[in-house]
Amino acid sequence: MIASAASLAADLRALLTASKVIDNPVELATYAYDASFFTQIHPHPPEVAVIAGSREDVSALARFAHARGIPVTPRGAASGQAAGSVAVQGGIVLSLHAMDRILEIDRANLQAIVEPGVVHARLNETLGRERLIFPPDLGSTRMATVGGMASTNAHGMRAVKYGPTGSWVLGLEVVLADGTVIETGSIGSRAKQSSSGLDLTKAFVGSEGTLGIFTRLRLKVMPLPPARALVLGLFDRLESAGESVQAVFAAGITPSAIEIVDQRCIQAINLYRPALRLPEAEALLLFEVDGAPAGARWEAEKIAETIRSRATRTEWSDEPGRMAALWEGRSVVGAAIGLLRPGANRAYCGEDICVPVARIPETLREIQRISAEFTIPIATYGHIGNGNLHPGHLIDARDPSEVARVQKVADAIHDLALRMGGTTTGEHGVGAVRRPFMEREHGAALGAMRAIKRALDPRGILNPGKIFADDPGDEQGDSWRQARGPG
Ligand code: LAC
Ligand code: ZN
Repeated sequence: MIASAASLAADLRALLTASKVIDNPVELATYAYDASFFTQIHPHPPEVAVIAGSREDVSALARFAHARGIPVTPRGAASGQAAGSVAVQGGIVLSLHAMDRILEIDRANLQAIVEPGVVHARLNETLGRERLIFPPDLGSTRMATVGGMASTNAHGMRAVKYGPTGSWVLGLEVVLADGTVIETGSIGSRAKQSSSGLDLTKAFVGSEGTLGIFTRLRLKVMPLPPARALVLGLFDRLESAGESVQAVFAAGITPSAIEIVDQRCIQAINLYRPALRLPEAEALLLFEVDGAPAGARWEAEKIAETIRSRATRTEWSDEPGRMAALWEGRSVVGAAIGLLRPGANRAYCGEDICVPVARIPETLREIQRISAEFTIPIATYGHIGNGNLHPGHLIDARDPSEVARVQKVADAIHDLALRMGGTTTGEHGVGAVRRPFMEREHGAALGAMRAIKRALDPRGILNPGKIFADDPGDEQGDSWRQARGPG
């Protein structure tokens, strides 16, 4: 027989000496959401939330839940937009945010050993004091935890030059479903590379808490580039913006970031920060370059020269104040687009597709067509250098017809990404939201993923209902819910 939520909490309190156990329904309500529209419509409060205080507690909790078949959903800051860290089948939400120590910065070996709850911005502030950087750079840097970043293989602004979070994870301490603790990337190693055995680090990165729970990360870091410069380009045609990105690569330059914001986003940024006074255009591109001062300047000038014939305006700067102002315009855009339609909500769904770079202009036009077809305003921005686009949908959430239509829009955008030869999620993860697309996106490879899942989590307790559409975890979670009953 499965215990009630109150007795589950009592058992966990007795078992976990360094953690906090929550079963008060008011507090539990806050664990029913992440930043996704999905959880706005379908909040899923867990039976119990545990704020983990130590690796030993995480291991004890996994052993306990494994023996009883209780779902465990790990989470960091819940800034995700794909319902990846909500307990869609109930059970326990295990929050790692309080395990947030930076244990060591190993300057000589260019590595940092951290706990999963470290917030990304704090890590880089600490590294920056030693002239080091962990290059992945997210829009949600002040919220997202490095554990969450590794679990979703988050990408962000600089992926075009430095790759995703996974490229910077050398090893992980992972608590497996039955409580066993393993270390990937060779025990106690400080090597910067390895060909030793299967690359388990890569398998766990991006597994969204379905294969194991991260309790420690060994991250690769690098010297902070001494200089940066920024190039701004405005375009009266989306096609010219897309062509400019290709022309810059063809000129032999790999910018550290290439960002796009579309016409609606430009209007939103001007509403939010009128002082920026961005001119009307169909698209704005920002190219960031980094490196030695002379090199960064040379690259910025070369980019400006390369895009000039296609742009209505170009500008480059290595002056910190101007660069910060332009970057701020980009960083506020996700929130600012709400200003385009007073009273409207930004609905995060279908929000991080990635398409081949050569098909970006076509994709942007199709997004406009979908917006018109369903009469839902969409403002698009994103990491155009890698083809990763964020269509931001604006809806009046009090209008049931708009709520229904925006979900059709999300489906149409996911479908578009696959038709273009891309993926439904370029950087945020599958969660519950992209799960229905996994069969189509991966075919027989999804079967191989499920085989790995079954081998590592035979009772399907870890984050059931995600990624693997009908894995044993779903059944396990359902039986747990049914046995518990409605109360
Ligand atoms: C960004 C988040 C939405 O790029 O990925 O701002
Ligand atoms: Zn992004």
